[in-house]
Amino acid sequence: MADSMVEVEGLSKIFGPHPEQAFDALQAGKTKDQILEETGQVVAVQDVSFEVAKGEFFVVMGLSGSGKSTVVRLLNRLIEPTRGRVHIGGEDVLQLSKEGLRQLRMRRISMVFQHFALFPHRTVGENAAYGLKVQGVDEDERRRRGNEALERVGLGGWFDNYPHELSGGMQQRVGLARGLAPDADVMLMDEPFSALDPLIRRDMQDLLWQLQTEIKKTIVFITHDLNEAMRLGDRIAVMRDGAVVQIGTGEEIIRDPATEYVADFVADVDRSRVLTAESAMREPRRTFSPDASPRDVLTWLDQSEANGVYVLDGDGTILGVARDDRVAAAARTGETSIKGALMDGYATATLDTALQDLFGDSSRHSVPIAVVDGDRHLLGVVPRASLLATLSGDEETV
Ligand SMILES: Nc1ncnc2c1ncn2[C@@H]1O[C@H](COP(=O)(O)OP(=O)(O)OP(=O)(O)O)[C@@H](O)[C@H]1O
Ligand SMILES: [Mg+2]
Repeated sequence: MADSMVEVEGLSKIFGPHPEQAFDALQAGKTKDQILEETGQVVAVQDVSFEVAKGEFFVVMGLSGSGKSTVVRLLNRLIEPTRGRVHIGGEDVLQLSKEGLRQLRMRRISMVFQHFALFPHRTVGENAAYGLKVQGVDEDERRRRGNEALERVGLGGWFDNYPHELSGGMQQRVGLARGLAPDADVMLMDEPFSALDPLIRRDMQDLLWQLQTEIKKTIVFITHDLNEAMRLGDRIAVMRDGAVVQIGTGEEIIRDPATEYVADFVADVDRSRVLTAESAMREPRRTFSPDASPRDVLTWLDQSEANGVYVLDGDGTILGVARDDRVAAAARTGETSIKGALMDGYATATLDTALQDLFGDSSRHSVPIAVVDGDRHLLGVVPRASLLATLSGDEETV
């Protein structure tokens, strides 16, 4: 990957005194459960590889015990890998000296946990700037950057208050501020929102998403919540029994699950929110130029049982729609082209418009929804049947 910040290759972690037994058993095709039973070794992470690009929001998702926390702790060697390679910003983490590792954890990687504890006797600001204190940053600078981080999470003005004066949701924001303050290259977040009430959790997701559009951090975010993963992740790695079973965008995973397991996992997701116009888009069956004769267009509309058709100029820009009644009128009055018969009756979407936003428009016009780029070039159309089929996961049938 051109601009990768995190590179992980063949990473494994076996808990127990005899990892080689576990590797042999894995080689022989044994499962994690069998290996535990037969050898007492815990296969926490097995042969995991992935890359995270600079500025990417990468989500690791899986059920409890699938190895998510172990994976992130292997990245900064809070847990020592049994096998594999980890590079952060081009640096080989496994080759680092003790001091190099300390520097890495202090400056290049920050962590936000689910159950992180604020120091009760330190102010909110001191808590937020804690990572900076560890770095040896002086007090003025800590106040400045601590305040900045607090402002980012909506807690400007709370620097000198104490944690007990804050609600649970606000305290979690301080945790987020603490992760942001050191301005590390990589932010590791292990289920930071899992303990929150659903509404506050949603707020925090929105906040983090908004922040990320501004700060463009490289984030490795862990969750067992699929909707959270879909909402936040640029890409998602799905883990099972310590292995990564699929990596892709939320859309790719939903449209094309790699295994039965992933398919079951994503079965409940709200497809209309995750899938976009791009996934339901089809080639238009036909388009016409404005010079086409009303007779030809009418004949095609008749044969295709269509009520209208898009009319494009030479470079594919939509000029309008030729609707059957207008075309018929033009033919009757002896017009030589459909130029004068064009109208604006159509709806547009862009490639990334969520399917749920297409419903209102999908049956209102004589032509399917047009998917366009910024210059109104027609990229494709979304017929209502294709919209419905994509939503139900039956695309092959269209
Ligand atoms: N220190 C340890 N010693 C032995 N086994 C461990 C240790 N830490 C984790 N494990 C095991 O490794 C596996 C992966 O655990 P991990 O905590 O990474 O899962 P997780 O996906 O983060 O789960 P959760 O969603 O519950 O946090 C589990 O089977 C767990 O029991
Ligand atoms: Mg965990």
